Amino acid sequence: MGRRGGHDVFQTIEKQGALLSASLSVDLLDSALYTNGNPYQVWRAMREAGPVHHHVAKTGSQFWAVVGHEAGQRVLTDWKVFTSSRGAMLREEDNSAPYPGAGKMPILTDPPRHTELRRAVARLFTPRAVRNLGALASEVAGSLLADLRARGGGDFATDVAAKFPLAVQAEILGIAPEDLPLVLDATGRSVDEAEHAASGHHDVMAYFLKAIGTRRSEAGRDLIDALLTARAGGLSLSDEEIVLTCDNIVVAASQTAQHAASGSLLALLEHPEAWKALREGRVGVGSAVEELLRWTAPATHAMRTAVCDTELAGTTIRAGEAVAVWLPSANRDGTVFADPDELVLDRSPNPHLTLGAGPHLCLGAALVRVLLRALLEDLIGADTSLALANPPTWQSTWVINRMRSLPVTVVPA
Ligand code: HEM
Repeated sequence: MGRRGGHDVFQTIEKQGALLSASLSVDLLDSALYTNGNPYQVWRAMREAGPVHHHVAKTGSQFWAVVGHEAGQRVLTDWKVFTSSRGAMLREEDNSAPYPGAGKMPILTDPPRHTELRRAVARLFTPRAVRNLGALASEVAGSLLADLRARGGGDFATDVAAKFPLAVQAEILGIAPEDLPLVLDATGRSVDEAEHAASGHHDVMAYFLKAIGTRRSEAGRDLIDALLTARAGGLSLSDEEIVLTCDNIVVAASQTAQHAASGSLLALLEHPEAWKALREGRVGVGSAVEELLRWTAPATHAMRTAVCDTELAGTTIRAGEAVAVWLPSANRDGTVFADPDELVLDRSPNPHLTLGAGPHLCLGAALVRVLLRALLEDLIGADTSLALANPPTWQSTWVINRMRSLPVTVVPA
């Protein structure tokens, strides 16, 4: 299990194993649980006790924690029973309180409105559109990594991974190159807890509100253009909905992918045999990308609210109750994945839930794969390699699995 398994709290919980009454002794919204990244031992103990648990966090947040793959897949796909319109992420206190932006942005709507909003922007992110970004992704990855190598090493998380996704997507998202640091800072705050998140979202939305005001073009080249074109074509869409949709997409686009990139490098450095097989071409890059997505799983959970009483894996969920699918846990479900705690770069099939499932399946799914492929190909083709200079550090937060630093040094290949 590598270094994450070394944490004392985890070891204690590990020893308790299946005897752990997860809902009694674990608080999934305790940030300290995430100090070393995703708490896989906790989730394993929960899965051994069952796929669905009633959970009460110390902050008062109450929800059903879904830790099994099959039950998680059902929640994410069965949108008629599990609505997104009352929040898609847990809150620290009351999960039934009105959710800001509900019904006005893709992630917080159900079909048919969701289908309309998603269709308005989908053409920017089709596999074909995204393939065209492949050359740019290679160029950006090459240049960031060349800088890092020229300095003999550095912090991969901040010097490379943080800058990479947004730099590649800047043009389709409609962000001027000189504004990238500002947007990156604002999206970073958006995935913090509580008040920082509000100020982050505020700044992202202010940025796009200004852009709508100054640009009414319908050239269809970037996000705002796509939304304005859809409105001109008859879709009812307020300025507020446009700005919220931009916020939804830009935060998702810049944050999760960077943590998948850092997590992927760490996974390879911690598994030298797998890394060697990849470098020697004994494992394909495509399957490696899928396994690294399964392994890193930066989005910790996806929340839904039951609209009626229902049964989920033998548990009765009542109308109005919050349900959170813990995606990294579903990815380690031994009933679906053989050797779930092993990094198997040629794993196939690999039905991980890292990018969600159902109508809200990540809009950037194709793009993420292009980004990770570009990074891996550069690392594989380089005539030097990277090694850990110091242990990585993680941000303690249950909102998203975030690496704060990944210090690396350049070593012979
Ligand atoms: C490795 C990187 C990424 C991960 C782990 C990830 C994860 C996810 C997950 C789990 C969902 C579903 C949430 C839910 O069902 O509640 C989602 C949705 C979404 N993602 Fe990603 N994402 C990543 C990268 C991106 C990128 C690069 C974009 C850029 C366009 C993006 C845009 C979105 C959007 C707009 C949604 C909402 C889709 C909808 O509601 O229809 N994501 N993502």
